Amino acid sequence: MLQKAEAYVRAHAKQVDPTFRPHFHLAAPVGWINDPNGFCVFRGRYHVFAQFHPYDSVWGPMHWGHWVSDDLVAWTWLGVALAPDSPYDELGCFSGTALQDGDRLLVIYTGVHRDAAGRTVQEQCIAESRDGIHFEKWACNPVIGARDLPPDGAPEDFRDPKLIRTPDGWRVIAANRGPKNGRQLSFVSRDLIHWTCEGVLLQGVGQMPECPDYGPCDGRDLMLTSVMNLPQDGLRFQNGHHDVVYLVGQERDGRLLPERMEAVDLGPDFYAPQRIRTPDGRSVMIAWMDMWQTDSPTHYLGHGWRGQFTVARELSIRDGRLLQRPVRELERLRGEVFEADVQVDGETAVPGLCGRRYDLLLDIAVRPGAWAEVRLLQDGGDYFSVRYDPQTQVLTADRSRCGYTMGPGGGPEVKPAGRAVLEGATDRISLRILVDQCSVEVFAGDGEAALTTLAFPKGPAEGISFAGQCAVHVRKWAL
Ligand code: FRU
Repeated sequence: MLQKAEAYVRAHAKQVDPTFRPHFHLAAPVGWINDPNGFCVFRGRYHVFAQFHPYDSVWGPMHWGHWVSDDLVAWTWLGVALAPDSPYDELGCFSGTALQDGDRLLVIYTGVHRDAAGRTVQEQCIAESRDGIHFEKWACNPVIGARDLPPDGAPEDFRDPKLIRTPDGWRVIAANRGPKNGRQLSFVSRDLIHWTCEGVLLQGVGQMPECPDYGPCDGRDLMLTSVMNLPQDGLRFQNGHHDVVYLVGQERDGRLLPERMEAVDLGPDFYAPQRIRTPDGRSVMIAWMDMWQTDSPTHYLGHGWRGQFTVARELSIRDGRLLQRPVRELERLRGEVFEADVQVDGETAVPGLCGRRYDLLLDIAVRPGAWAEVRLLQDGGDYFSVRYDPQTQVLTADRSRCGYTMGPGGGPEVKPAGRAVLEGATDRISLRILVDQCSVEVFAGDGEAALTTLAFPKGPAEGISFAGQCAVHVRKWAL
């Protein structure tokens, strides 16, 4: 199966339609990708895998696709690392994590299969690699099975193991549905083979807190988790089915006691982040830049691919809040610079300001009682809007006027916009916006708020203009 998948990628990757292909984001070579998996440093290089279905641009039996990078920006395809070819993962190799252990690279993932009674079961499996490319699944898989769950745990919802090294061995945090709701269980082991459930690390967060990423950050315990059906709460949690939240706090007696829980990114296309510690000590996150329950023009127009990752982002915690900024390595891609001061009064174009792939810095001063808007990916009345209103302190990123829609089958969609309240903001804000063919990543201030959105314009869409009443200092680098 693995060879078949690799041969398929080799034969078909060149045939995907290049129209929307990103230039500085990792994307499916062909077919479909979702969650980042196994983001790690192995022998000094960055590795990341993805949930991968090579044969169609929709979700299907999950393989792991594999990339490597020296700078977190340019990713090289390494091939298919795992295929669903064993009895315990016949329905898919679902999400998981990776770690360097001595001279081997360990990955732990969820094997999905059917039991004798025909029920779906999710169990945790390990594979290892000596060369960082070819993986061998362990003969004793699954290592954490349904048998290791507490009696009230649902074996059909038991996934996304996060592997952590501890002073006396190993720990795994995995999502599991309990009698009432989802939770995250903690398992410990000395040998990676025999595991004991030591309890519930986190519960009471939505229906299923998937893809736990847990570890220290700036002296705190930080959990990133992708939550199904989190009760909506104004603009704090607004995605409906899938919200990614961070919890900052301290673990005590095996329980994470969060002092704060907020959304990581309020755009409609951000899910399943994982993070690593870089050799120089930074906490860096990467996420799936797409979403469940939407459709993509790259699928329904027959382009042959769907799914990308966000740019890698540096994380820090200030006053209990998570800040995120694109990794500094991205600045090495900066080409020609454009700089201007613009007085905006109604729709205002700026001669020479245009592009489809760029890094845009805006310092905006809004006139009293007014609002400010930057229009990106613009062809006349068709554009992507980033708008700030000081009266409400709300920053909105909205693709509803921009090209193809992303509802089922290309129809209208429920949530084409993301909104973030810029707490403490006045009539002056600064924004950093990364645009890459069909995506817009907006960061406000020092990275206090992020909005990640896909957008698929119908034409060349190189326009950039402003609207509202404001003064803007613009710096733009082609990327
Ligand atoms: C999250 C998720 C994971 C699962 C994987 C399957 O997006 O649903 O929980 O392991 O995707 O592809």
